[in-house]
Amino acid sequence: MSIGTEPGPIGATTDLLSVEDLVVHFPIRRGLVVERTVGHVRAVDGVSLGIAAGRTYGLVGESGCGKTTFGRAVLRLEEPTGGRVRLDGTEVTGLRSDRLRRFRSRMQMVFQDPLGSLNPRHNVDMLLAEPLKVHGVGSRSEQRRLAIETLDAVGLPSSVLERYPHEFSGGQRQRLGIARALMLRPDLVICDEPVSALDVSIQAQVMNLLEQLQGEFNLTYLVIAHDLAVVRHMSDRVGVMYLGNLVEEADSEAIYDDPRHPYTKALLSAVPQPDPEAEADRERIILKGDLPSPADPPSGCRFRTRCPWAADICAEEVPVWREVGDGHRVACHFDL
Ligand SMILES: Nc1ncnc2c1ncn2[C@@H]1O[C@H](COP(=O)(O)OP(=O)(O)OP(=O)(O)O)[C@@H](O)[C@H]1O
Ligand code: SF4
Ligand SMILES: [Mg+2]
Repeated sequence: MSIGTEPGPIGATTDLLSVEDLVVHFPIRRGLVVERTVGHVRAVDGVSLGIAAGRTYGLVGESGCGKTTFGRAVLRLEEPTGGRVRLDGTEVTGLRSDRLRRFRSRMQMVFQDPLGSLNPRHNVDMLLAEPLKVHGVGSRSEQRRLAIETLDAVGLPSSVLERYPHEFSGGQRQRLGIARALMLRPDLVICDEPVSALDVSIQAQVMNLLEQLQGEFNLTYLVIAHDLAVVRHMSDRVGVMYLGNLVEEADSEAIYDDPRHPYTKALLSAVPQPDPEAEADRERIILKGDLPSPADPPSGCRFRTRCPWAADICAEEVPVWREVGDGHRVACHFDL
């Protein structure tokens, strides 16, 4: 059993998105003539969380801990191995064909480089109309009207419709990526590292735009980032992920003011403080070693091979969730 399987104060019926015990394992295949499965990458291993309508949930953790896989599985771009995803009370995990397609239009993703994977020979008009075409929404003139309205919302003039992705700067490309995600007027937007490819000066502009659009389009966000500053700026709630599991979850302020899991403490200790006194007092917690392989995670607490507080019990028992404050939960054997 992984720690994420413990029931927590989440998944309330009022949540727009409710994820229960989500598991995504990728098979590892070997063999030249006959392929066989020799193991599994346990990319997401029992993650539960809920996001209230109109709120922003920040998911943080270092590279390879399963953040993108989690987001893709919520959208069913990756088939979950187990667990349940509900949008507005309807279980998305069981949907097939037409109903799945309809639900998919209510959930969209913004990527780090949203135009990188798109056809460079398509102009903005075609790129924005494409999601509408896929879902059979609107006539050609309605599609164009929607595109112009959406461009205006992200701060771009209608003249960009005839231009091509390579003609835009990083910040403009991200605005276009956001516009494309909004074309179907979704309820949930998963922003996967939305500003990590941008210059620092542009990052704030894009974060502010996302916040402004949230009110305008009544959006619920899951923001995925390894950068704690990005998540802090945008999130109401924050979840910290380590090697396929969630290890701590709380309202944004509580995570930053009173981190309780050693991994969260270590992540935060690496962030420079703007206040000179706090910066002088900042104690770095240096983690030993690298992230273990998700194909063979450590027994007990998955963080134990790098945790400065690890004790014998940590190798033997999986820590269960503990409530340490109002809506603040942590999966560690000790009260640190
Ligand atoms: N399609 C796949 N097949 C096999 N393994 C995969 C696949 N996609 C992801 N993985 C593995 O799953 C683990 C989690 O990857 P994921 O991309 O979700 O992490 P991440 O937290 O988003 O990392 P990053 O911050 O680098 O984007 C990694 O070990 C990765 O190599
Ligand atoms: S359970 Fe043990 S190894 Fe895991 S975070 Fe807590 S002290 Fe560290
Ligand atoms: Mg990722």
